[in-house]
Amino acid sequence: MQEQLTAIVAGVRDNAPNIQTRAEFEAFKATISGPNGTLTDVMKRMGEVPKEDKPAMGRCINQAKNSVTTAFDEVIARIEAMELAAKLGPAIDPTLPCPDLDRGTLHPISQVREEMIVLFRRIGFSVAEASEVETEHYCFDALNIPSDHPARDMQDSYYLPDDLKVNNVSKHADEKYLLRTHTSTVQIRSMLKQQPPIRIVAPGRCFRRDTPDATHSANFHQIEGLYVDKNVTLLDLKATLDHFVKTIFGPKAKTRLRPSFFPFTEPSFELDFLSPDLGKLSNKWLEVMGCGMVDPEVCKAGGIDPAVYTGYAFGMGIERIAMILQGVDDIRYYYQNDVRFLKQFA
Ligand code: PHE
Repeated sequence: MQEQLTAIVAGVRDNAPNIQTRAEFEAFKATISGPNGTLTDVMKRMGEVPKEDKPAMGRCINQAKNSVTTAFDEVIARIEAMELAAKLGPAIDPTLPCPDLDRGTLHPISQVREEMIVLFRRIGFSVAEASEVETEHYCFDALNIPSDHPARDMQDSYYLPDDLKVNNVSKHADEKYLLRTHTSTVQIRSMLKQQPPIRIVAPGRCFRRDTPDATHSANFHQIEGLYVDKNVTLLDLKATLDHFVKTIFGPKAKTRLRPSFFPFTEPSFELDFLSPDLGKLSNKWLEVMGCGMVDPEVCKAGGIDPAVYTGYAFGMGIERIAMILQGVDDIRYYYQNDVRFLKQFA
């Protein structure tokens, strides 16, 4: 019996390296440890072994079983590795040039944002940025927005949990954190950082609880403008916005300021424009932004003396400008990451 065991183990060791598939393995395994396998057969014959030899024989059988199991495990591990390699295909050579030569492009919203930044930089504005998480103070109070203003409603803004810790934005008082609803927060933050002259544009992401439709998205972009200095007048605002509109929408564009209201500007306006060079939208008055002269209360909140300085501010949705320029009629296209859409602006 012992010789048989030695022969079985040797046979397994000799044959194991030749097994290539799971089916071959199962068939081979059956000849050894299946119901009629050679090893099973030896074990069945334990009964014939004289009593005094049984312990020694038992040990031999266990040894043989262990050797066979080890050999089987190796075969299975080898087959699994081969199956995985087959699934993965040929090895990748990381030193070869990239097969995908498409380099990707700026998102259409980024393209328009860049175009606007370049325009404002040319006329002396620099770019300011601030955080997207804000306190009620910077988003509302400092901007003269009263506590009963609808934007303060839980249904209109995204408030953050009371126990949230935000390391880089500190609270003024017992107030809430929220995602900024407009970039006007940057007006206050810029004023607190420097005394006039201040001439900044602040592009960035804003958040409002809107139900998405063709013209609304809960997450959108604005660009804010602020100019504070001695003797800044409405004429400066109008001239700057006129220049902006003519550069972006065509030199024959006309602008008009329509009286409006914002708590942080006084007087306040909506800026409309009309351009003969806009395809389908030609010669229609289109509203593009809110603007006005900085309210004295806002100057005070920003640490600037309104008796010495005046200023103007404006704010517009980048998506709105992009949709007009790019002929896009549904804001949601910008966020779907559909390459067929994005490639049209490459
Ligand atoms: N913050 C205003 C808005 O989100 C836009 C605005 C900015 C109006 C600056 C006037 C001055 O609608």
